[in-house]
Amino acid sequence: MQVDVLLGLQWGDEGKGKIVDVFCPKYDLIARFQGGPNAGHTLEFDNKKFVLNTIPSGIFNEGTLNLIGNGVVIDPIILKRELDNLKTAGFDPVGKGNLVLARKAHLILPTHQLLDAASESKMGAGKIGSTLKGIGPTYMDKTGRNGLRVGDTTLPDFQERYQKLKEKHLNILSHYGEIPDFSEKEEAFLAAIEFIKSIPHVDSEHLVNQYLKAGKRVLAEGAQGTLLDVDFGSYPFVTSSNTTTAGACTGLGVAPNKIGKVYGIFKAYATRVGGGPFPTELHDETGERLRQLGHEFGATTGRARRTGWIDIPALKYAIMLNGVTDLIMMKADVLDTFEKIYACTHYKYNGEVIDYMPYEIITHQAEPILEEIEGWKQDLTGITSEAEIPTALRNYIAYLEKALEVPITILSVGPDRKQTLALSK
Ligand code: GDP
Ligand code: IMO
Ligand code: MG
Repeated sequence: MQVDVLLGLQWGDEGKGKIVDVFCPKYDLIARFQGGPNAGHTLEFDNKKFVLNTIPSGIFNEGTLNLIGNGVVIDPIILKRELDNLKTAGFDPVGKGNLVLARKAHLILPTHQLLDAASESKMGAGKIGSTLKGIGPTYMDKTGRNGLRVGDTTLPDFQERYQKLKEKHLNILSHYGEIPDFSEKEEAFLAAIEFIKSIPHVDSEHLVNQYLKAGKRVLAEGAQGTLLDVDFGSYPFVTSSNTTTAGACTGLGVAPNKIGKVYGIFKAYATRVGGGPFPTELHDETGERLRQLGHEFGATTGRARRTGWIDIPALKYAIMLNGVTDLIMMKADVLDTFEKIYACTHYKYNGEVIDYMPYEIITHQAEPILEEIEGWKQDLTGITSEAEIPTALRNYIAYLEKALEVPITILSVGPDRKQTLALSK
């Protein structure tokens, strides 16, 4: 068996949580492989809505095991809060035994968040627009070989290790100015550390490979999106992990030849939250209309998302990096009332017309060249079969498939689990 991967092809918030939830009955294991509680994955079913930050989106299917992999960074306070909220709603993954944590996953400390905030405030206008969850500083400690991991929590000297790392952070923070009081947060952190000891700790590399050997089906759930990848995104306006398929290999302990299908998920338009280049961004009332109709406000921070037209060169880049085998188009319904929609096919850049994302996209503006596409002007939210898809939308799908050279196999027409159509190919 091989690991299938589902990940975002844009700047995050494509609808990964919804589709993992739709797919998970077909899988024995759902595994998050990177990122942390900067993610907000939304699921809706039976008139209920959940936002998951750290917990994989297979958690509502009792027969599926959910793994928080070694590539993830975990804030124990947020993880505990997520589990408490699920329990209040009648779900108890810990009691049911369908959640496990990788021993090698790194821990986000309260002082990592202080460092994130201090670093961002120092950058002024050039700030990244981080979610301020401590992601960057935690990955810095991981690669700097200072970090604390889930497996360390059960060691007898965990407290000393924690104090040592905290002291290091306080020393750095003292150069930024006055250090805010974080005693309450620290108390909550230490209590949450005790709590996460009650969740089974596993070696994700062995668990995942044993599953494959036993013929079980595994889906890796990405967070963020390809254009936020630390290597290939619009650096430095990126997150601190590899959000691409390669990240699933390192974030779970899976060999590249064990990767199966790669589901690349994208919105029928584009959004971005935080700073950084966004060639197709709309600063006008059309952009505002997309924001309102698409409820484009962050699931984690509540920030308004920037909106714009679909960007084909950026999608082609993401497809190449990930080896996408199947495309999933989300939020087509948001465009229901548009007479015309637009797709960026090329950029005007330094006096030339190009069809790829240039390196210097931060300092030199890439101006989008847009193609006009007929809108379908029909409410999609109630359609339940492929036969009901309006012709203009069929044309849009065919147009994208031709440009992207990968089939679109799923179409999403609303936030609910049920508003999902499989497309025959
Ligand atoms: P993720 O981070 O990729 O899981 O995506 P988010 O949950 O942050 O953002 C996607 C948002 O769009 C959520 O509010 C979803 O409920 C919503 N959503 C998902 N699919 C659709 C869809 O097809 N149509 C509409 N209108 N909303 C959708
Ligand atoms: P999901 O998984 C959208 C963005 C932030 C910021 C940059 C760096 O829900 O799609 P960080 O907190 O990682 O230091 O922020 O990345 N960002 C996301 N944008 N969706 C996400 O996750 C994101 N996670 C981080 O807004 O621009
Ligand atoms: Mg999100």
